Amino acid sequence: MPQKVLLYCDPGIDDSLAIIYALLNPEIDLVGIVTSYGNVDQEQATQNVAYLLDLANKQDVILIGGAKTPLSGEFTPYYPEIHGEEGLGPIKPPATIKGELLNFDAIFNVIEEYGEELVIVDIGRSTSLAISFNLGGEKTMNTVKGFYLMGGAILTPGNVTAGAEANFYGDPIAAGIVMDKAERGVLYPLNVTNEAIITPEMIDQIMVEENNPFQALIKEIFDYYFEAYQKLVPGIEGSPLHDVLTLYAVTTPQAFKYVEKVVSVGLNDGHLRGVSMADFRPKPDEEGNKLTIALEMDYPSFTEDFVKIMSSSISNLT
Ligand code: RIB
Ligand code: CA
Repeated sequence: MPQKVLLYCDPGIDDSLAIIYALLNPEIDLVGIVTSYGNVDQEQATQNVAYLLDLANKQDVILIGGAKTPLSGEFTPYYPEIHGEEGLGPIKPPATIKGELLNFDAIFNVIEEYGEELVIVDIGRSTSLAISFNLGGEKTMNTVKGFYLMGGAILTPGNVTAGAEANFYGDPIAAGIVMDKAERGVLYPLNVTNEAIITPEMIDQIMVEENNPFQALIKEIFDYYFEAYQKLVPGIEGSPLHDVLTLYAVTTPQAFKYVEKVVSVGLNDGHLRGVSMADFRPKPDEEGNKLTIALEMDYPSFTEDFVKIMSSSISNLT
């Protein structure tokens, strides 16, 4: 049976590639998508998701309106230089496709319907998931099978500041709430997602035969993202697909090595904002909600799976 997934996201190029990966993957059953601000504003994120679902003829996947700002209410910058003005690199989704949003409490209907058959995957800012814990309560939220969370950088450099990763930096209050409350939470920080490098040669392999409606789009948005990463990290051989790796982990958790630790997130507006910290000193069992944290991964297995799924036939779309 494919794994049922409720996805929180902010597309964004790597989010969009993750959605395409999930739609093409026969081991994933995407039952709903919560769209929030992050890489673009919430309206644009919704339009981008609706466009991808339309291409796949999967308009039955429900869309739920998520957060428009961080919990602090402050304005956060978007990243057009990485994701493009509309979040899909050079692509402008047709204005005719808007996507119909259900209200936020539809999240709790999905959780009630699927319970422990469901995993929640969050590949955006943590705001909407933190609000879900706030409104739905820990008991309801923790009835799901688990949480797959892209965020943080554990004892390794950040990507928006020296120490902070973008999802946690965007809303550190929310990230802290999720770290405290999510039971059976598995964290995929930059330690592994920065290694999830997809190269232009891999994209060329995906393009060899035209099998699904996404291939041309995959190449165009990847090229844009790769160009941005080449400016950020001179000499890089491809682009890290942080969000795709997190979806891959849903079907292939055994491709990672994990530790279990309590994770805290820096809240102040200085150098520590959004910085994630876990205690690696040898000491007796620590108090608090432990996350399972992925620190190493099997790179060849990821890239092989990515090329296979992204070039798979339309027949996987039912
Ligand atoms: O730090 C990587 C994360 O931030 C990803 O979710 C990506 O989409 C970006 O917003
Ligand atoms: Ca994202």
